[in-house]
Formats: sequence, C-alpha cells, structure tokens
Amino acid sequence: MLVVVHEDYGAMSKKGAEIIASRIRRKPNLVLGLATGSTPVGLYKEIIRLHKSEGLDFSKVITFNLDEYIGIPPEHDQSYHYFMRENLFKDININPSNVHVPHAMFGDLNISSFETDPKIVQFCEWYENEIKKYGGIDIQVLGIGGNGHIAFNEPGSSLGSRTRIKTLTEKTVKDNSRFFKSVKEVPRYAITMGVGTIMEARELLLLANGDGKADAVKAAVEGPITAMCPASALQLHQKAIILTDKKAAAKLSAEFVTYG
Ligand code: GLP
Repeated sequence: MLVVVHEDYGAMSKKGAEIIASRIRRKPNLVLGLATGSTPVGLYKEIIRLHKSEGLDFSKVITFNLDEYIGIPPEHDQSYHYFMRENLFKDININPSNVHVPHAMFGDLNISSFETDPKIVQFCEWYENEIKKYGGIDIQVLGIGGNGHIAFNEPGSSLGSRTRIKTLTEKTVKDNSRFFKSVKEVPRYAITMGVGTIMEARELLLLANGDGKADAVKAAVEGPITAMCPASALQLHQKAIILTDKKAAAKLSAEFVTYG
C-alpha cells in the first residue's frame, strides 16, 4: 500500500487525475471504476481539464460506479446517476453505452426480505457479470467514509462481500444529509459493490481529504484488517494507492507515508 500525502486538496486531485490519465493512455479501453461523494469532485474537474486541453480520450473507456441510493430516480439531484452526469460524463467524450451506474429503482420493497428480493438479487448478479464481461476493473477510484466505509460497505460488511443491498448506518445517513434538504430525505438503503468486488480490481486509488477523514485513514492504513473498517481491506491489495491531503494524513505515523 502506497500512501502519498499532498499539500492540499488541489494537489491530491491533480495527482489522482494524472494516475488515471496515464492508465487511459496506456490502455484506451480501460475499465475504470468510479466513486461519488465530495472527495472525487476535484479529481473529476482535473480529468475534464485533461480531456479538454490535452485530448484525453474517453471514447473507448468503460466505467462502473460503486454504488447508488435505493429509491431515488436517476434524475434526482442527489442520485449518483445525476452526480456522475453533472460532475464528469457531460464534459468528456464517454460513450453512454459504456457507462454503468447501479440501477436502484425497484418499486415497493419489503424491508424484511429485501436481501433476497429476486429483482435486486438478479440485478446484483447482472452487475457483477457485466464487470467480468469487460475483463474486470483495471483501476477503481474510492473515497472513504468517516467510519471507514468504502462505497456503501458499512462497518461490519464482510470483506468478501459482493454487489448487494446495504442498510446505511446512522453516521453515514447523518454525514450524507448535508447534500439533502433534511436528514429525513436521505435514503436508508443502497446498492453497492462489495468489498470482495472492489478488491478484485487490478489497482485501487483511494482519495481522502480533510480532518474528518483522519481517524478513518489511520484505521485503514495502520489498524488491524477488520470488517469494522472495510477500508482496512486495502492492506491486502497488491496495488493500492492512497492519496491524501495533509489534514487526512495528520494521524498517520511517519513511517507509513511518502510526500507527493
Ligand atoms: C458516500 C459514498 C462513498 C464515499 C463516501 C465519502 O457514502 N457511498 O463512496 O466515499 O460517501 O463521501 P465524501 O467524499 O463526500 O466524504
């Protein structure tokens, strides 16, 4: 695991974009795993800049997003479909048929049995197979939740888990309520790639910035590998890069970090 600490959010985002760009230049039909949240917004801005000013070509790139809230339509301004369109896809030359964001409109769900709901189970299997069909994810972008979650794999998620429905923790609901009019509007469930699915990507690129991530970053990098901090699974990955700003790295021991 390589942890590279940057002066600030801008430098971290630029480095992330350079890494992605180098992978696309090496393999134009890269299978790129994407994340949402406030963290990768700067990375996506920089990628757009590279597309516009340096001709970074997305015409053959295939994308898979990590997750989506259940029950909010793709046109909702807090859906991850909407986020990806607004923050990246509308400004690059990606082929819409190469884009995959988990579907999350399943109609009425019975909360007590949704994990076995055939519509959801079938969709999750399809998503996993679709990733396999394209040869697996080459590089997966990740953020990290304040509680150590990756995608929507909340603490306690099996480190071998696959794409499935997850109930969000109160912390995540509260953290993400800043994007909604009120906490009541935040969906309680999501479809998410599993930790096992994520770990199969050939390369992982996790970004973290701000004081609010310092404990989670420390637990992920220096803590025990445990389902209670799903991001700690990255310690087992052969090619995991963690990019941070100074604030998110503030609690790391010096021997774990290099400076970008
Ligand atoms: C959400 C997403 C994660 C993301 C996390 C952190 O819960 N499902 O993929 O990493 O929030 O978000 P932010 O970058 O806004 O702190």
